[in-house]
Amino acid sequence: MRIKLSDFTIAYEDTGRGLPLLLIHGFPFNHRMWHPQIEALSGSARVIAPDLRGHGESTPVPGPYSMDQLAGDLAELLDTLNVKQPIVLCGLSMGGYISFAFYRRFPGRVAGLILAATRAKPDTQEGKANRDKTAEKTRKEGVRSVADSMIEKLFAPQTLRQNPDLVEQVRTMMAGTSEEGMIGALMGMKERPDSTPTLEEIQPPALIIHGRDDQIVPLEEAEAMQSTMRDAKLVVVPDAGHLVNMEQPEAFNHAVRRYLEQFRV
Ligand code: MLT
Repeated sequence: MRIKLSDFTIAYEDTGRGLPLLLIHGFPFNHRMWHPQIEALSGSARVIAPDLRGHGESTPVPGPYSMDQLAGDLAELLDTLNVKQPIVLCGLSMGGYISFAFYRRFPGRVAGLILAATRAKPDTQEGKANRDKTAEKTRKEGVRSVADSMIEKLFAPQTLRQNPDLVEQVRTMMAGTSEEGMIGALMGMKERPDSTPTLEEIQPPALIIHGRDDQIVPLEEAEAMQSTMRDAKLVVVPDAGHLVNMEQPEAFNHAVRRYLEQFRV
């Protein structure tokens, strides 16, 4: 489905009933990365999975996209869908950065947080310089070439060996991101604030899910988040890299379903 927000048209899926579970994709993906979750979790929650501005089927508007702005887009989508009750946010990687921004802006709207393959820390100086290089590569060589250079790092060795179809599916998804979306998100992530202080403020229960073989965000980042948070459980998934929800969907969905049980009325 597609719906007009104040300055762009957002594409999303909305299925199931009950507690709203907002799935926020990572970079440079779209809501299709949640394919193994959308139907599977719709028996436990109302699953809402949007394409962020510039990604997937949403309009490619010029950036930079700050994490605050992306969080604001999600709140506007929820308002438009008439979702008034507090939601569970589930963000992977950049989706996690956006979840922290959402919590800072709208704490009363958050019943729970699922943080997958993400980190609280901001970019290092080296990380910021790499964002500029990737943006330059996007302009000069195109989105597909950036997708090609990222692809192998996204997966665990086992996935690369045993699931080439998944790898190609993800490559195609990344290559479908607009140039505006790619650069807008890179520039927004580069300027994102440190969310470490936010970790201490988070009141709702959290679930952290991390692939043991994540090469983009090392497992230590997840362990550091857990030890700082008031109420966070960490599930480490073997034979999974950065795209833990796609590489090991059963383990991921099992952890999410168990976590959601506490919200049953
Ligand atoms: C993502 O998967 O969203 C990105 O790897 C996040 C990042 O580049 O920091």
